[in-house]
Amino acid sequence: MLKNFWYALEFADRIGRQPRKVTCLGQDFVLFRTRSGTVTCLSDLCVHRGGALSMGTVTDDCIACPYHGWQYNSEGVCVKIPANAEERKIPRKARIDAYPTVERYGMVWAFLGDLPEAERPPIPVIPEHDDPEFRVVQFEMEIDANYERALENVVDAAHTPFVHGTSFGNPDKPEIPDFRIRQTDWSAEADIQLSPPLPTGLWGLLARRRPRPESVTVTNAWYLPNIVKLHIRLPIGDMLLYDFNIPLSQERTLVKILGYRNFFTGAWADGNARKRIEKILLQDRPVVESQRPELLPFDLSDELHVRSDGLQVAYRRRRLELRKQGWWVGDDDIITGDSPRRTATVIASPARRDNPELASAWVHKARTGGNPE
Ligand code: FES
Ligand SMILES: [Fe+2]
Repeated sequence: MLKNFWYALEFADRIGRQPRKVTCLGQDFVLFRTRSGTVTCLSDLCVHRGGALSMGTVTDDCIACPYHGWQYNSEGVCVKIPANAEERKIPRKARIDAYPTVERYGMVWAFLGDLPEAERPPIPVIPEHDDPEFRVVQFEMEIDANYERALENVVDAAHTPFVHGTSFGNPDKPEIPDFRIRQTDWSAEADIQLSPPLPTGLWGLLARRRPRPESVTVTNAWYLPNIVKLHIRLPIGDMLLYDFNIPLSQERTLVKILGYRNFFTGAWADGNARKRIEKILLQDRPVVESQRPELLPFDLSDELHVRSDGLQVAYRRRRLELRKQGWWVGDDDIITGDSPRRTATVIASPARRDNPELASAWVHKARTGGNPE
């Protein structure tokens, strides 16, 4: 799992004044809105006795731990310890990690890492979001598989005729023509010619009135750390899926999806669009959950690649480089889920680097790379 990236953690319309727990990279975070409406993201681990702040209450712009009521502000600094006499000073070590947060494309993004602002990789651009021609639906599903297996599945055009033969895949046309990959440090995409069958149901009604092309261009893309795009140009219009594969742990993934379409843009067709997305995911889920080894190998030669696997190979190469750079976090210290609660370690936030004088003020150790080899 990669740290030092912006992670979309939740749909923005789900975050209000009530604290909300979210999980990513095997760590719990608490999100809430301050009075001015901005979203705060803190480590969900109280430095006193490890209480979950997400079970606490938000007053003014602070969150109070449910156990002994310590109050933390948006910077993660404890500003009140109710059991202490008023004149007693709050220890400098009474602080937790706070993560930079922005709202974009209807999602709350938190920067999970300690890089200063200028060095942070960008949030991908989703041009359809602000395009009035497009309508968006939200969808989510948890799967019992590693997030990188889920990510690779979406950019993998060759599985479509087999896994999605009854939806948008065409079992009679399994060949993938060669494609060119456009790559940056943070993304890769390719236009691939596919021959999907005519859509059925509601979308089919419209499709039957349009000329049927021999093949359609599908654009598959990945954006680090965990986002994939699928742009299908149907005869009736464009459909784009942006999947956020959120690693709850190394073995469990919360897939959140923004699904855009520029046809049937009334709210009445949202349910139908969501059902189609669900159908695709339910076709992928058993296959991805069955893959072994569960975790994506680091060594490229541990699995066999062919020409049509180009996007996945580009992804594996790039994550290997970042792993060498120290951006990989292992699972050895994970304290959520079923793993043993041995130690309380967290992803280090930028404040740790910004203020070297605070170096000794962090009680929770920073998570470092586990070396799975
Ligand atoms: S555990 Fe949070 S205040 Fe004691
Ligand atoms: Fe799929």
